[in-house]
Amino acid sequence: MYYLKINGNKKLKGEVKISGAKNAALPLIAMTLLAKNSVNLNNIPNVADIKTLAKLLQNLGAKVEFINENELNIDTSKVHSTMANYDIVRKMRASILVLGPLLARFGHCEVSLPGGCAIGQRPIDLHLSALEKMGATIQIKDGYVVATVPNGLSGAKIVFDKITVTGTENIVMAAALARGTTHIINAAKEPEVVQLCEILADSGVKIEGIGTDELIVHGTDKNLLKIKSFSVIPDRIEAGTYLCAGAITNSKITIKNAQAKHLQAVIHKLESMGFGFEISNNDITILPAQKIKPCDIVTTEYPGFPTDMQAQFMALSLVAQGVSTIDERLFENRFMHVSELLRMGADIRLNGHIASVNGGKQLNAADVMATDLRASSALILAALVANGESRIHRIYHLDRGYENLEQKFQAIGADITRLKEEQ
Ligand code: UD1
Repeated sequence: MYYLKINGNKKLKGEVKISGAKNAALPLIAMTLLAKNSVNLNNIPNVADIKTLAKLLQNLGAKVEFINENELNIDTSKVHSTMANYDIVRKMRASILVLGPLLARFGHCEVSLPGGCAIGQRPIDLHLSALEKMGATIQIKDGYVVATVPNGLSGAKIVFDKITVTGTENIVMAAALARGTTHIINAAKEPEVVQLCEILADSGVKIEGIGTDELIVHGTDKNLLKIKSFSVIPDRIEAGTYLCAGAITNSKITIKNAQAKHLQAVIHKLESMGFGFEISNNDITILPAQKIKPCDIVTTEYPGFPTDMQAQFMALSLVAQGVSTIDERLFENRFMHVSELLRMGADIRLNGHIASVNGGKQLNAADVMATDLRASSALILAALVANGESRIHRIYHLDRGYENLEQKFQAIGADITRLKEEQ
């Protein structure tokens, strides 16, 4: 196991190139189960979650080849198993994304239930009830979702009670091979969902309403798709994290290969805190603030403020002059970074899903523990402005979603090193 050692209180400067979006790449890898050809996927982030899903597809019988660190070729023509087993699914909840494609293509599958997860209960009831509406019979047996639909899925009207990102993606992929038309109401419209729909549309699936909360998917009745090669969109959460690194150290840094249109809520919030921006083509430069003002944040679905940026903004509000409030509306247990930030001298009060952050106090370095992917990046941000040397343990959480993390931070002047834990 490794940890990160960070010496704080350094100004940052320079450029960071943003990688492909993990949360876009995962459904796109699952989507290759709908293809009749081998598919080339470019701008894939070199992170642990991608390798986990690649391994799952290999276990099903797919040929998965890493052409280089960021390019994959996947051939699912020889898939012979429809069983996604617990050993892999427990590592990553997003493995549930194979459920829709496997069921649509083979008429049956057995996918381990993802179970609990550090940031909350995160059920998959909405995925399952939507597939039942499309004609599937679903049973839970020995911790597995056992789904069958011998005559194939049929189009249906799906009204999601809550907006679910992977739920929408699963049903869009299932609907792509279904018989007839599926009407999805209250669909997620995150950029990652939009890219999935656009690639399916480019592969011959007629989809109306892309980018809106009502999708109409005209299924191909089990005709597999011819999918062209494509490039994954930039990771808006990685981009937002590096913008926060610029903000918390009040430094000018530029992120390259980013899409400002996907980051509007984040940029708007940073502007309200006093930071300036220069935006051109795919570059976003954050400019220092004269005075860092507190913020009020409510997490919500896209295009609102993303829950995946909540922890980073909590770290940032520690350097603001005044009290910030952060209201986490999507996940019930997404404040695990709070107790670690308190160890660094933060003044944060929690009341249910609302955190009040009394900013402006000098942070001190400490040994802290990463608890989930985004919470861990908040600890890095706090360590960048703490007095002394912090050590962040259990960084395998970070490796799930941030490519070349310490190299990218070093390139903008952070004093950060990855070291092996002593046994
Ligand atoms: C995705 C993202 C994750 C992000 C989250 C919210 C991926 C791989 N992960 O997760 O990074 O934090 O969106 O933007 O893209 N819910 C139910 N029943 C369901 C499904 C969801 O009650 O069947 C609830 C969840 O508990 C949560 C809310 O709906 O409260 C939204 O969850 P959802 O959008 O499904 O999150 P994920 O797709 O798992």
